[in-house]
Amino acid sequence: MAVTTIRSVGVVGCGLMGSGIAQTCVQAGYEVVVREVSEELLHKGLQRIYEAWEMLVSKGRVSREQAEEYRQRLRGTVALEELASCDLVIEAVVERMEEKLRLFTALDRLLKPEALIVSNTSSLSVTQMAAVTRRPQQVCGLHFFNPAPVMKLVEIVRPITASEETIETVRRFAESLGKTPVLARDTAGFIVNFLLIPYLLSAIRMLENGMASRDDIDTAMKLGCGYPMGPFTLLDYVGLDTTLWAAEAIYEEYKEPLYAPPPLLRRMVAAGLLGRKSGRGFYEYS
Ligand code: 3HC
Repeated sequence: MAVTTIRSVGVVGCGLMGSGIAQTCVQAGYEVVVREVSEELLHKGLQRIYEAWEMLVSKGRVSREQAEEYRQRLRGTVALEELASCDLVIEAVVERMEEKLRLFTALDRLLKPEALIVSNTSSLSVTQMAAVTRRPQQVCGLHFFNPAPVMKLVEIVRPITASEETIETVRRFAESLGKTPVLARDTAGFIVNFLLIPYLLSAIRMLENGMASRDDIDTAMKLGCGYPMGPFTLLDYVGLDTTLWAAEAIYEEYKEPLYAPPPLLRRMVAAGLLGRKSGRGFYEYS
């Protein structure tokens, strides 16, 4: 019997997405334990969350007492065992299937039998993750968008093995976070990345081919289509490595040239030019 009411939430990974997800869950009233692999990464991730709360206080969006109460409900750890009593665990580690499968196997052994496990993967197969557990009916995808505390959408990804009850519980959980859920089958890219990735890759190809400058392409899509960010600003924001992994996963599934990563993207990732998080991508950041 799976849990139908979520009270405590575990988040594995406190990077860009994991920290945003943990922040979102705390702000929605949950007790949250977030786990990172090292004290250094944990400190960095928690700092990002504390700074976001400081920003909300300085803007008068939340009171100092409220921010203090948020801090009380967030616990950081490097020990996966500390997630043992959670009703729901959200996996937000690096987009590598081996890592995810190792983690799902460990979580399945650790968590109570009724707990749910969801993955924030942007394009890897959630069915494959569910298959390494003894609770495949209690596993699905819950894909957030960057910045997680701000973006209203989440994609609920339904592997063929997930029960209706799990999907319903996760849908209610997503709504309790103030998000609007959409439901997608477990196919590479789900809804958003299936459409977004070819757009971003096309912008890179335009630049590679000298069809227009970086700035003009960004300006064109901002002012011509009303997008909040042009494609190169968005690429830097999402991370070039994350974009490359998503493109590779979708290309692997469909073999459509539309999803084949352009050489410039591969070279930039190889050079460590990952976007905002590394200080340089298509733009430079101080
Ligand atoms: N935590 C809490 N609040 C935050 C925040 C954070 N980390 N980051 C920004 N905000 C808040 C700000 O405080 C501000 O709130 P206010 O309006 O109440 O003052 C609001 O968000 C807007 O922020 P800013 O004024 O700083 O900046 P902008 O108005 O330029 O908006 C943006 C920033 C929301 C990031 C906007 O540019 C945007 O929507 N960009 C597109 C983002 C996008 O497309 N994301 C999806 C990427 S795809 C993805 O993630 C999938 C993956 O699988 C690849």
